[in-house]
Amino acid sequence: MPKQVARRKRKLPDSPYLPRSAKIVEAEMFTDLEMWMRLEFEDGEPIEYRAGQFVELSVYGVGEAPISICSLPGKGDGLELCIRAAGDVTSSVQNFTVGDKVGLRGPFGNGFDMDSIAGKDLLFVAGGLGLAPCRSFILEALNNRDKYGSVSILYGARNPDNLLFRKDLDAWRERQDCTFMLTVDRGDETWTGNTGVITTLFRRIPKIDPVNTVAFIIGPPIMFKFAVLEALGMKLRKDNIYCSLERRMKCGLGKCGHCQIRNVYVCQEGPIFNYAEVVRLREGI
Ligand SMILES: Cc1cc2nc3c(=O)[nH]c(=O)nc-3n(C[C@H](O)[C@H](O)[C@H](O)COP(=O)(O)OP(=O)(O)OC[C@H]3O[C@@H](n4cnc5c(N)ncnc54)[C@H](O)[C@@H]3O)c2cc1C
Ligand code: FES
Repeated sequence: MPKQVARRKRKLPDSPYLPRSAKIVEAEMFTDLEMWMRLEFEDGEPIEYRAGQFVELSVYGVGEAPISICSLPGKGDGLELCIRAAGDVTSSVQNFTVGDKVGLRGPFGNGFDMDSIAGKDLLFVAGGLGLAPCRSFILEALNNRDKYGSVSILYGARNPDNLLFRKDLDAWRERQDCTFMLTVDRGDETWTGNTGVITTLFRRIPKIDPVNTVAFIIGPPIMFKFAVLEALGMKLRKDNIYCSLERRMKCGLGKCGHCQIRNVYVCQEGPIFNYAEVVRLREGI
């Protein structure tokens, strides 16, 4: 009889290419296409991340996709993602539920040092799924409210059914220490709020000091283009307007070149850039 050889569990080397297994501990379909989930790592190791960073989400046997971390930055057991079904990976994850496992690599990207803008007035402008990355910045600002001047949050969605993070929206509306404004491009019979594209909200922002204001404008390219024009019209400085650039990404590590714009690896130096940098990158948006 062949001699049984005791199998020793081999510890895999730490590699940025190896996904860590993470379990879905909470999940909710926000809309027909967008799913929110909270994940915790199975190895029990904490993760630390900054606003603006992203992870590579693996659905085993399908592939990987870059997804922004949308939870409160810092160090913790896990993180939150909001995923829109767009292709192979993001559609297959929508069949998952609490207890299912995915792989995560990262965090990747430069993230944003919120301490560097302490004392500034903050203007957040989020369009559609752009609220996911923007939410990390907003949560960080509201969680450390004393650190900043005024905080204004503008959010626009196509229609009422497309609104994401509804619990957050209700909480932000109730807060006395920030201005929250919401609009939809097209309302329905139940909608009593503002109707119109997000730029229509700019004229209702309480007076801001353009020299002391930092704006985060995150959303689809067309929304970004017109929202930046509004911000520049309010005399905000180009290097005080930040956005998140989306490129095709694979490795997240500055190796494969998929995300490259000229000599810039968006996965490393971005995805958060200020508008002065974006203008230099030109084809970035
Ligand atoms: C930094 C960053 C953060 C992101 N954050 C989020 C997030 O928080 N939530 C979220 O839902 N998504 C996010 N995305 C977008 C997400 O990564 C893409 O939608 C990704 O392609 C989904 O992978 P998939 O395999 O599901 O779809 P894919 O199979 O990649 O297809 C997605 C869509 O892109 C098209 N497509 C495929 N290849 C190309 C190509 N080479 N050029 C142009 N179009 C192509 C497909 O036709 C399809 O419509 C982020 C992307 C980046 C770069
Ligand atoms: S995604 Fe590979 S170099 Fe940026």
